[in-house]
Amino acid sequence: MTSPAHIAIIMDGNGRWAQSRGLPRSAGHRAGVEALRQAVQNVGDSGARWLTIYAFSSENWSRPASEINDLMGLLKLFIRRDLAQLHRNGVRVRMIGNRDTLAPDILELITDAEALTRVNTAMNLVIAFNYGARDEIVRAARHLSQMAADGHLDPHSITPEMLSGALDTADIPDPDLIIRTSGEQRLSNFLLWQAAYSEFVFLPCFWPDFDRSQLDHALAIYADRDRRFGAVAAREALS
Ligand code: FPP
Repeated sequence: MTSPAHIAIIMDGNGRWAQSRGLPRSAGHRAGVEALRQAVQNVGDSGARWLTIYAFSSENWSRPASEINDLMGLLKLFIRRDLAQLHRNGVRVRMIGNRDTLAPDILELITDAEALTRVNTAMNLVIAFNYGARDEIVRAARHLSQMAADGHLDPHSITPEMLSGALDTADIPDPDLIIRTSGEQRLSNFLLWQAAYSEFVFLPCFWPDFDRSQLDHALAIYADRDRRFGAVAAREALS
């Protein structure tokens, strides 16, 4: 099988990584940002043109305020510190998730990053921030319903492609491979619609320990998979 064009990652296990070292959770998130920096480089080197990362979910608001502040601070720091380098490397940055409930300073940083890197084509880094797939699908449904209510759309003409086009990921290809670290084996409201035919690889390592060898391991597992998209395998079709 060819290598994946779009890799999406659920970066899980920062808290447990820190705990196992007797460190505060914030240290785990800081180490997680370092792992993220390496992952962008390594995924790019692997030939994948798309990387989507689950940085902050719509459910993460239920964490303690201090941890939410840490995560917001780290996103700001990541964009401020790394944007120039990403831009130099031809990386286009964009965000998926609910923008309506984001603090104005974060929204401004994100929209500035998107504007600066809009013409870059070497690689795409999609940051799922304040993201929840159910929220994304509901917002898309509201949008299409409003068009129907305004008389611009016949509800019977709605197709899967139209719903795809109303999601935050409208012009982003579906992920080929979704990796989750830390041993948990669930999607946690990440890309529910887009993952219809994705391959899943669950790695036991905590996110801060995700390095080139972990990525290569996930890619080797992916290479062994037989993706059929609901059809039969080529050799079975001939028999
Ligand atoms: C899961 O670990 C990770 C997160 C909730 C956030 C991911 C964030 C980073 C990798 C760093 C921040 C990067 C940006 C760009 C904001 P967890 O806290 O759920 O770990 P646990 O399951 O072991 O408690």
